[in-house]
Amino acid sequence: METSLQLKGDHMVSNDHVSVNAHNHLTIGGKDTLELAREFGTPLYVMDEAFVRAACRHYVAAIKTHYDGKGLAAFASKAFCCKAMCKIAAEEGLALDVVSKGELFTALLAGFPADRMLFHGNNKPADELEFAITSGIGRIVADNINELEQINTIAGSCGKRQSVQLRITPGVEAHTHDYVRTGQTDSKFGFALQTGDAMRAVQMAVRMPNLRLSGVHCHIGSQILDVQPFMLAAEIMTGFIADARDQHNITIEELNLGGGFGIRYTEQDNPPPHEDFLHSVSRAISGVCSARNLPLPFIYIEPGRSIVAPAGITLYTVGAIKEIPGIRTYLSVDGGMADNPRYALYGSQYEMLIANKAGAEKTKRYTVAGRCCESGDLLGKDVPLQDAAAGDILAVLATGAYNYSMASNYNRLLKPAVVFVNNGAVRVAVKRQSYEDLIQSDE
Ligand code: LLP
Repeated sequence: METSLQLKGDHMVSNDHVSVNAHNHLTIGGKDTLELAREFGTPLYVMDEAFVRAACRHYVAAIKTHYDGKGLAAFASKAFCCKAMCKIAAEEGLALDVVSKGELFTALLAGFPADRMLFHGNNKPADELEFAITSGIGRIVADNINELEQINTIAGSCGKRQSVQLRITPGVEAHTHDYVRTGQTDSKFGFALQTGDAMRAVQMAVRMPNLRLSGVHCHIGSQILDVQPFMLAAEIMTGFIADARDQHNITIEELNLGGGFGIRYTEQDNPPPHEDFLHSVSRAISGVCSARNLPLPFIYIEPGRSIVAPAGITLYTVGAIKEIPGIRTYLSVDGGMADNPRYALYGSQYEMLIANKAGAEKTKRYTVAGRCCESGDLLGKDVPLQDAAAGDILAVLATGAYNYSMASNYNRLLKPAVVFVNNGAVRVAVKRQSYEDLIQSDE
């Protein structure tokens, strides 16, 4: 008998992939996390494949249900990139957002069709552009003039006409962490709409012989918990497409609205149902289209976090526990900022539990520390947890996005393995790094 934990209450797909079994152990995807820790060691990233697939399907279906025109959901692979994940995204009919030759290379090796990929970034090196163009990448999202010129030149020398979208900053300020806010004019990304740069870039792109201007793109930020800024961005961008037609007789067929849909990390986060994002955004686009007599654009959305974050957990072994009377109690684990730098970088909060006492009440608070040699290596401060002891297994929830993909070898720690569970079955998606891997590039 399993009890559903209702921990994160993600609105998109059911979160009953995380439960407690009769042994009082945390389970994910029908697997006892204690068994996973024993079999694969810790730290360990565990992803529920069924959850990931359901989330992909959800986005595909949501576009069909809520948007009167046509569209594609692209998985933002920066959130979690490995061959197994690219394969899943391909099988579920998603497009793919890649941001480097590394992500592109991984996806190609996984058999992801190049023509369903979009290449992002504010400073793509020429060799990466060339690799993308010769690989037959579907769209390059051009960020600046220098890049437009480079794409035009490289495409010309390859005898190709490259489809591009232009990254535009629509001037929308989303309420999220400064480091992940990107829609405002003061941004390293894209052509500012408000300064006229965006329209000038459109005019320039259509004159370049080896480019095909397919669309415009914006991404206003990440972990956004409010529908309003998305609607505003959609309205502004659709209006921009209408302006390009009215003022310059330029047809722009595609509108890419980026990603950024927030998830519930802790009880403090209250994301609207992801359905609402799409529904509201569709209404915003349709409103402008009918007011300005514009055909509905083909839309792209680029969810990353919301597809993979809730699907993942990280398991650690608890080591030293140190109480500093009157101050706090530190609980140290065998991982930390090297496998999850998000607390150190953004102060991100996570829900945690002791996996072998998962059903017990959380009666204690611990400051969860990693094993790296610096004081900032924490996973959370004063986190409510079950009474813990050395040897327990700590589970950090909702680590499926921007954890593995942001992991480092700081202090020469090995990157953990990633295992996929799927209705009780387990497979290794990424092997744990070995010490041989670690020194492989050292001369
Ligand atoms: N599209 C573009 C162009 C992006 O830059 C991003 C994320 C996405 C889509 C996907 O956004 P998502 O749906 O995952 O929010 N490392 C940070 C997040 C950085 C997001 C960067 N861009 C974190 O750990 O919170």
